[in-house]
Amino acid sequence: MSDGNSTSAAAGGADQGAASSGERAWTVLELLRWTTDYFRRAGIDSARLDAEVLLAHALDTERLRLYVDYEKPILAAERDRYRALVQRRATERVPVSQLLGEREFWSLTFRVTGDVLTPRPETETLVEAALGKVGAMAQGALRDGDPIRVLDLGTGSGAIALSLAFELPHAEITATDLSEPALQIATENADQLHKRERIRLLAGDLFEPVASERFDVVVSNPPYVARDLMASLPPELSHEPEMALFAGADGLDVIRRLVAEAGDHLSPGGWLLIELSPEQMEVVMQELLKAGFVELERHFDLAKLPRVVGARWPVV
Ligand SMILES: C[S@@+](CC[C@H](N)C(=O)[O-])C[C@H]1O[C@@H](n2cnc3c(N)ncnc32)[C@H](O)[C@@H]1O
Repeated sequence: MSDGNSTSAAAGGADQGAASSGERAWTVLELLRWTTDYFRRAGIDSARLDAEVLLAHALDTERLRLYVDYEKPILAAERDRYRALVQRRATERVPVSQLLGEREFWSLTFRVTGDVLTPRPETETLVEAALGKVGAMAQGALRDGDPIRVLDLGTGSGAIALSLAFELPHAEITATDLSEPALQIATENADQLHKRERIRLLAGDLFEPVASERFDVVVSNPPYVARDLMASLPPELSHEPEMALFAGADGLDVIRRLVAEAGDHLSPGGWLLIELSPEQMEVVMQELLKAGFVELERHFDLAKLPRVVGARWPVV
C-alpha cells in the first residue's frame, strides 16, 4: 500500500490497484481508508464523507452500497475516475457539489456549477418561512381569490423558487438574478424539474426587472459575506461566484438596498424575508424599522441560529 505522500499515488497510483498489471487490486475499504487519511492531511474536515461520496460517484453507485461492497476490488477504469476527483478535491479544494455537478435541496436535485452558489441547508429556513406566510395569506382575506405572487430575488440555481413552485401549485413565482450564467443554470434546473412553465426568470439588478410590479412575498438569500473576511474563508468558497457571496466591507451592501427598495414592490400587508448572517440580524432589523416595516420576526435555522428576518409592509 502506498504511504500516500504524493498526489500521484492518490487513490491508488499507477503501480497500485491495476487489475491488469497482475498486482492485487485495491478494495473499496482500502481506498476509502487511504483517501480519508489523505483528505485529513489536506485539511478537509469532512474527509470520510467526501471520500465515500466521491467513490460512490466514480463507481456510479449509492453511497450506502459501498458498505456492502467493502471487499470488492476496484477496476482500473473506476480507480482512474476516482483518482481524478480525489486530486481536484484535495489539491484545488473544489467543493464536492461541483465535482458531482449536483446538490440536494428541499429533497430535490439541483444542477450546480461554478456559476452558482451551491444551495445550503440553512436556506431551507427561508423556504419554510415563505411557506408559512403564503399559508397564512391563503387562509386570510388578503388575496380574495387572486393567485399569490412570490418573488425570489437573486435566485442562483433556482433552489428557493423551484422548491416553492413544488409546494405552491397556485402561486405566481418570479425569480431574478443579476448573473446571466446563474439564470442559465436556474433555467436548466426548471426544465429538469419540469417546472419551467411555473416560474418567470428575469435578469437584472435587484427590483429593476420587476420595476412596476408588486408581490405578496419577496424572499431573498442575497450575498451577505463581508469582503474583509475573504482571506480567512475556506478555500472551497473561491470556487463559487464572488457576486453570490460578497457585499461590501460589512456584507450588508445588497441587503441595505433590498430593504430600502422593497416597500415599492410589496402589496399592502406583504412580507419581505431575507436570509442573513446571524450577527447581522440586529442591524438589519433596525434598517427594516427605519424603512417603515412592521411585525419584525426572526426565524432560526437547524443550528438554532437566527438566519432569516421577516418583516411586513404595512396594510395602510
Ligand atoms: C447567496 S446567492 C443565493 C443563490 C440562491 N438563491 C440560493 O439560495 O442558493 C446570491 C445570488 O444573488 C445574485 N445577486 C447578487 N447581487 C445581485 C443584485 N444586485 N441583483 C440581483 N441578484 C444579485 C447572485 O448572482 C447570486 O446568484
